[in-house]
Amino acid sequence: MPTLNEIARTMVSNKRGILAADESIGTMSRRLESVDVEPTEENRRRYRELLLTTPGLSDSVSGAILSDETFRQELSDGTTFPNALGERGVLAGIKVDTGAVPLAGAPGEKVTEGLDGLRARLEEYVELGASFTKWRAVFSIGDGLPSARAVHANAHALARYAGLCQEAGLVPIVEPEVVMDGDHSLDECRQVTTTVLRSVFTELGLMEVRLDGIVLKPNMVVAGDACSRRPDASEVARATVDTLHETVPPGVPGIAFLSGGQTPEEATANLAAMQEITPLPWELTYSFGRALVGPALDTWRGSDDGWEAAQKALSERAVANASVR
Ligand code: 13P
Repeated sequence: MPTLNEIARTMVSNKRGILAADESIGTMSRRLESVDVEPTEENRRRYRELLLTTPGLSDSVSGAILSDETFRQELSDGTTFPNALGERGVLAGIKVDTGAVPLAGAPGEKVTEGLDGLRARLEEYVELGASFTKWRAVFSIGDGLPSARAVHANAHALARYAGLCQEAGLVPIVEPEVVMDGDHSLDECRQVTTTVLRSVFTELGLMEVRLDGIVLKPNMVVAGDACSRRPDASEVARATVDTLHETVPPGVPGIAFLSGGQTPEEATANLAAMQEITPLPWELTYSFGRALVGPALDTWRGSDDGWEAAQKALSERAVANASVR
């Protein structure tokens, strides 16, 4: 059995990254509808089969994060999704949070839930073939936001989740996302990201989570999507790496960024600019959702004729991100 550290290092090294294909049923259904595909269980399954059977995927993708629905589904040939990934040299991951709900007494803010019964669910996911897990916390920037209570509640939940996963032999992806929505500046994103990451590592320390057995999945430090000044890739890279240096202990093996609404090209360019800043104590890679699979979904649009072209579109994005590593 590989150790937590060995799994974590496999997830972030050898120029590979992690594919996030774990959209909830609701989110995935909306994405299918946006390309005129009926949001049925079978169409969600077909789309995930398309992504995960892309030829050569394991050259640039080390692991794929799936949702509970996909984890229990099968490819057309009857292989379960986690087994199909294993056969292709890709580690199977499972999103285990149950989503973000309004936090009491904190208007406009959310706390991520899913701790109740988690130990038993993790045992089952191990049986089904999982190597790692994911839990996403969200933080909005706004007038007085995020509040100290939202930061603390979410950081605490992330740490409890991470502890349970390590106990089960699963590597937790710890995902605190400061979202891009808003007109905030790069500097405001940097300040909030620093506060959030500090709190997350304080809580991980209190919970005695082994830092060499996690993968951190943060946002890049970017300006809000409605901010008029658009920093270029070198500014984003500098601000992001500086923030990580201030907050992330060197014992963490790797940092795999979410794309958070950046275009595929932006996310790749920002990652490339970060790779130019050396030396760094951690591996930096990608764990993009939309920036990896967006073009494939747009190409497929539900038709068998578009299948190969869609796989090519995914492959192009994955190779582009791997080649900047
Ligand atoms: P995006 O890259 O689309 O932000 O998705 C990553 C992810 O896993 C969000 O939880």
